[in-house]
Amino acid sequence: MIKTVGERTFCMVKPNSYQDGNTGGILSMIEKAGFQIVAMKLVKITKYTAQKFYEIHKERPFYDELCDFMSSDKVVALILEKDNAVADLRDLMGDTNPENAEEGTIRSKFGKDIGENATHGSDSIDNAKIESRFFFSELEIYDED
Ligand code: CMP
Repeated sequence: MIKTVGERTFCMVKPNSYQDGNTGGILSMIEKAGFQIVAMKLVKITKYTAQKFYEIHKERPFYDELCDFMSSDKVVALILEKDNAVADLRDLMGDTNPENAEEGTIRSKFGKDIGENATHGSDSIDNAKIESRFFFSELEIYDED
């Protein structure tokens, strides 16, 4: 089996980015930052699927709104690879709240508010694996460790 070269993370382009025609702009920022796209799909998830994906937040007051939003239109699910991919993607995305995101980050450029914040990125290597497997089958994840 071929070994993964860099670290891998999971990313999702959220429905507001898809609807606003910013998918290409976001993918371009990701590639220019040195990430290699190793898996990608455009998919409209159901509210139930969004609830499962964000189950960790189920007690939070924004959970229902978040799941409604994430199932409101298509998302682009991605597995990205580079050295230090988890932390570097979070830096590239910027603060969860676009108002606090540094200039030049994805969320400062394309985020509307804390809910419609353009992209999701995994917060750890373990969660990157879990989230990648949530969206992609073994057949779709090439050269996985
Ligand atoms: P994400 O990286 O997808 O992980 C969980 C999401 O919950 C987060 O981005 C935000 O979009 C959303 N979120 C976090 N806090 C709030 C909040 N206070 N109100 C609405 N949505 C929130």
